[in-house]
Amino acid sequence: MRITVEVNGRTRESDVEPRTLLCDYLRHELGLTGTHVGCEHGVCGACTVLVDGEAVRSCLTLAVQMSGRSVRTVEDLAPEGAELTEIQQAFRKHHALQCGFCTPGILMSLTAERNRPAPSREDALDSVRGHICRCTGYRGIKRVVEEIFAESDGENPR
Ligand code: FES
Ligand code: FES
Repeated sequence: MRITVEVNGRTRESDVEPRTLLCDYLRHELGLTGTHVGCEHGVCGACTVLVDGEAVRSCLTLAVQMSGRSVRTVEDLAPEGAELTEIQQAFRKHHALQCGFCTPGILMSLTAERNRPAPSREDALDSVRGHICRCTGYRGIKRVVEEIFAESDGENPR
């Protein structure tokens, strides 16, 4: 099937098998390997990307469902030469990653929360609860949430 999808601000046209998963389309067709694949059944969160601004498990989504939609992957948070986002900087500051396998998915979920009109710390923590991290014990990630969402509850200063 022919699909037209905006990925990281660029319009892509591709022929895909109807069964192609969004994560496989991103990684194998477009070479966007920052989106990781762990469990492949919606549990670990590693494959999370933004679709029209909402966090979505790309292992549970078909590429053909994306026609006419906008997809954002971790590569677009800080394209080459750009500054890291505030969430990425906080990850670095609080040592919120070790192997980094879970990190792209968590970054995308927190970015979706951060971009809401009224981001809240509790919602951000809830979104992290949907991700499995086998390295960090979540302490650093929790510190990121506390820093980024602490003073912005109820408002988005952007
Ligand atoms: S790979 Fe999609 S949720 Fe685990
Ligand atoms: S940093 Fe290794 S799984 Fe989270």
